[in-house]
Amino acid sequence: MENENLSVWTSIPFWRRSAAWVTGFASILLIWLTFDTLGQISMGTDTDLKNGVTKRVPGPTVINYQIGYEMSTKRGHEVPVIGEKEPFFGKEWSVTEAEDLLHLGKLTSQAKNCMNCHTLLGNGAYYAPDLTKAWLDPAWADGGALQGMTGKSTKEEAMAEFLQHPSQYPTHARMMPDLGITADEAKGLVAFLKHMSSIDTNGFPRNFGKEEGTTNAK
Ligand code: HEC
Repeated sequence: MENENLSVWTSIPFWRRSAAWVTGFASILLIWLTFDTLGQISMGTDTDLKNGVTKRVPGPTVINYQIGYEMSTKRGHEVPVIGEKEPFFGKEWSVTEAEDLLHLGKLTSQAKNCMNCHTLLGNGAYYAPDLTKAWLDPAWADGGALQGMTGKSTKEEAMAEFLQHPSQYPTHARMMPDLGITADEAKGLVAFLKHMSSIDTNGFPRNFGKEEGTTNAK
């Protein structure tokens, strides 16, 4: 008799059922999104690279390829484009060699705390240039100011030389201090930077590539 006057909005069983349905739906959505993200960010393989399959995070042997950075009108920002093969420190690196080199570079970047001054993939400090796309900075390429300054004839050798003796090469307003980086560690770091530049970061950092040397985000 009283029930006739009760609106659905004041019915406790209605809200209980709604809460159960919403929680259930949200859980399924979150599980689906988690697996989708894992798929998107999992590292590609050497076979992907050989077959021209584009992965957001290419495999370590991407260091054997040219990496370009091209405007995608569809996505409204630049995306890394993997090109022809090119020698890296004068050779082609096998899968295990490339993995080991990247591993050394990653450990060195942690041991020397590059993030204390630089930003890597959105993490770190803003004292020094963002390194996410440093490999693509035209200043390191043939004819670029930074490569010329080191007297080396390839991008990788120029960067490795700079990393071993940064205080000899004042490139911007601030100086990078000598961090006691060995020749092998420098090679690893350059591989690490090259691999990082090939990661599709949805156009991050935004201001990169508009003029020469803009990794310094000025
Ligand atoms: C104490 C702060 C500091 C630390 C730590 C540091 N850097 Fe730097 N780095 C700088 C500064 C400042 C510059 C700008 C250099 C200049 O003007 O000479 C720079 C410049 C660079 C550049 C040239 C950027 C460009 O324009 O392309 C690279 C590459 C680089 N650093 C890599 C590294 C790596 C790799 C590490 C870790 C092993 C590292 N840095 C650690 C301060 C630092």
